[in-house]
Amino acid sequence: MPGTKKTIFDFALLRRVFGYASPYKRKFYWSVVLAIVLAIITPVRPLLIQLTVDRYIARSVESMVIYMTIIQIGLLLVETALRFLFSFMTNWLGQSVVKDMRVAVYKKILGLNLSQFDKTPIGTLTTRTINDIESINDIFAEGLVPIIADLLSIVCVLGYMFWVDWQLTLIALIPFPIMIIATYYFKESINRSFFKVRNAVAALNAFVQEHLTGMAVVQAFSAEEREFAKFKKINRDHRNANIKAIFAYSVFFPLVEIVLALSIGLVVWWTSKEALNLQQSQQGVVVSFILCLNLLFRPLRVLADKFNVLQMGIIASERIFKVLDNDDVPKPPEGGYKKTPEVLKGAIGFEKVWFAYADENYVLKNVSFRIGAGETVAIVGHTGSGKTTIISLLNRLYHIQRGSIRIDDINIGDYDLNILRKNIGVVLQDVFLFSGSVIDNITLRNPDISKEKVEEAAKLIGMHDFIMRLPGGYDYNVMERGVTLSLGQRQLLSFIRALLYNPSVLILDEATSSVDTESEILIQHAIDTLINGRTSIVIAHRLSTIRKADKIIVLDRGEIKEMGSHNELLAKGGFYSKLHEMQFEKHRVIS
Ligand SMILES: Nc1ncnc2c1ncn2[C@@H]1O[C@H](COP(=O)(O)OP(=O)(O)OP(=O)(O)O)[C@@H](O)[C@H]1O
Ligand SMILES: [Mg+2]
Repeated sequence: MPGTKKTIFDFALLRRVFGYASPYKRKFYWSVVLAIVLAIITPVRPLLIQLTVDRYIARSVESMVIYMTIIQIGLLLVETALRFLFSFMTNWLGQSVVKDMRVAVYKKILGLNLSQFDKTPIGTLTTRTINDIESINDIFAEGLVPIIADLLSIVCVLGYMFWVDWQLTLIALIPFPIMIIATYYFKESINRSFFKVRNAVAALNAFVQEHLTGMAVVQAFSAEEREFAKFKKINRDHRNANIKAIFAYSVFFPLVEIVLALSIGLVVWWTSKEALNLQQSQQGVVVSFILCLNLLFRPLRVLADKFNVLQMGIIASERIFKVLDNDDVPKPPEGGYKKTPEVLKGAIGFEKVWFAYADENYVLKNVSFRIGAGETVAIVGHTGSGKTTIISLLNRLYHIQRGSIRIDDINIGDYDLNILRKNIGVVLQDVFLFSGSVIDNITLRNPDISKEKVEEAAKLIGMHDFIMRLPGGYDYNVMERGVTLSLGQRQLLSFIRALLYNPSVLILDEATSSVDTESEILIQHAIDTLINGRTSIVIAHRLSTIRKADKIIVLDRGEIKEMGSHNELLAKGGFYSKLHEMQFEKHRVIS
């Protein structure tokens, strides 16, 4: 499995993760200090018990026994309080780092070039921003510092044991190799099944996400049974992967108990043998060793688990950094962006433009045309001929391989992206609605756009009355009650959005859907309002829109076939006139 090779000893990666903790340096240092203090006081309780048994219980000094017990209770309380603080602090640290990292990753994703989203499944990016980052928490909460804390306390307890009686300690440690071997196999097994669980979760996520989105298709084609069977299989895989992990735990934990019991048994056996031989009692040592062994095994049992968690965190962080290091973002040209006016006039020129989404599969081939400021141009062509692509290029959503695209005689690459996009208003073919109110979907939560302006624009487009008829009017939640808006209505909403923008250049990708006559008139009127007084590129399916254009560009499989006004092209009797015939037929059938 790629990625599994990464170990916890990848210090460069760890350092980078811990870099995110630097704003919380003090909490981090405090947690290290706490770890050390906790380790040091761990062997104190066994020591006190030994003293109590040997000095006071053996000699029946009752007052001291009570006194020592009170000290023990006090110590236990202090230890518990420190443990609480430690655990709270490491988790707090983890969650803070998670918060910061998630913001950084999402910011990065927001700025990526659109082509990245063609290559990466949405589910993957969701997993990066949600699940993977959550594992980073574990690096802090259960990973590095807690592991160091556990190791330190093991060392301290062992040190104490050797100091009290090194021979007895060695005897107590006889069953330890079993523990080490068991831990090794446990770690490996858990590691493997965790990977399977993770993959199964990702598969479940992806499946559910995709099928909920495509529910209409699933139901319309009665594919529920088949898809359900597929779901059940993925779900079963998920359970099986989990069961493997559970199996490992169920074998390992009792095994640790057995090893612990063996160690305790050895201690008791050895000391009683000594007592018989030498006539000397070692009661205090036995009691304190039993406690020591417990204190030793408790961290040992979870250490393997913690190493796994740490390793998973490291792998997750590697994936996250891959997203953060993705440099497919819009970059300024050498020497920076040109100083350009804030408001463009909107003269557009394509010069021998070649473009492919991937490799050498050119979608646009040698496309050249000019649009004067204020002109309206219609692009027509069969489906897949590259119409939407042309407008995506203008907006710099994708980058051309050859040729040049200019607005007001400046290469679009030289514009500050913000200025460029502020001047280009877009109405897309299929309008995406975010869950939220109508007004939020129109303004995209831009506080500079007042409600009055929105209403004014809606009136101009002719949508105001329609919106007012919705329950709640402009506050109507478009995702609620299972009713969203129709394709035509959505496009009208985005007309309002574009109008409010008041761009110099308007791009309109007409929805192909046929609408009823009333909406048709509404849309027709709205388009006229929109394109009035600005450079407009309309990917048109309506004859009426096409006729009104100053120029028509006829596109066929990425190449410009013809260019000219409606009458010129009709007179030519070429590609357009054929297309027109077909469109006209279609139009007549519809209306
Ligand atoms: N994101 C993408 N990644 C790769 N190829 C793409 C992408 N988008 C479109 N294409 C391809 O580019 C070609 C042109 O697509 P485009 O969307 O520009 O067509 P269109 O003329 O707008 O069609 P329609 O009238 O159906 O909207 C098609 O062959 C399509 O398969
Ligand atoms: Mg299209």
